Amino acid sequence: MTIQDGCQLSGQEMDAVHTALQRANFAIYAFKGSAGEDKVLIRQLGRQLGLERLDDNLCSDEDGITSLKVVQKRREGEYIPYTNKRLNWHTDGYYNSLDRQIRGVILHCVQPAAAGGESALMDHEITYIQLRDKNPGYIRALMAADAMTIPPNVQNGKQIRPEQGGPVFSVATDGHLHMRYSARARNIVWKDDSSTQAAVEFLLSLFQQDSPYIFRHRLKSGEGILTNNVLHCRSSFEDDTASGQTRLLYRARYFDRIVDPGSH
Ligand SMILES: [Fe+2]
Repeated sequence: MTIQDGCQLSGQEMDAVHTALQRANFAIYAFKGSAGEDKVLIRQLGRQLGLERLDDNLCSDEDGITSLKVVQKRREGEYIPYTNKRLNWHTDGYYNSLDRQIRGVILHCVQPAAAGGESALMDHEITYIQLRDKNPGYIRALMAADAMTIPPNVQNGKQIRPEQGGPVFSVATDGHLHMRYSARARNIVWKDDSSTQAAVEFLLSLFQQDSPYIFRHRLKSGEGILTNNVLHCRSSFEDDTASGQTRLLYRARYFDRIVDPGSH
């Protein structure tokens, strides 16, 4: 969907965003004719949709919005988002403490890579339904408070983030489903019982098959994704530093969910 001015959505644009979000919990937009600095536009766009409280993570810029690009610096370079490698299926901020979970995200493309860097998305509500249809026991296992444990983040002998346990699926106080997940095996220690293991295995299989619920898109300059933190991943990419075709995305993560139509 096209957005003429990110600072001021028209009624029609607002309706289109909400329709897409109701259907799939994400929307792809393209800024057209918007004048101004991308980060300001993103901040304003978010505000109109109820996205206000930004998560200032370890690597975000001073304004709380993160520049995702390949960096050689040591700290960020240790995290895959700051490399050109493939990024496996996950939800954002799954490692955050339970009271600081990410409910809404804007991912905005300033410039795509010379090649690669395609995004894939899958609505986590659909994933929940697929798991439940296969075996309701999978849902019970993944809603358990001890289903997954994220090991502490320790760098140079210093603990940056403590161990973080919790469920995969939970229901927020507003009644909406929330998901914490990473398919990267080293990021999560799964509960060692057969139902959790079977649920995790089935979940992984959902990403490996052709699915009508997986949406793939390579963001172009000026395009972005508005999402209620659905499952997503990214393919590897190649920058061309000689020509300046290097990938730059802005990412804003919020403790808020995109406001539902009618409630504002
Ligand atoms: Fe992400």
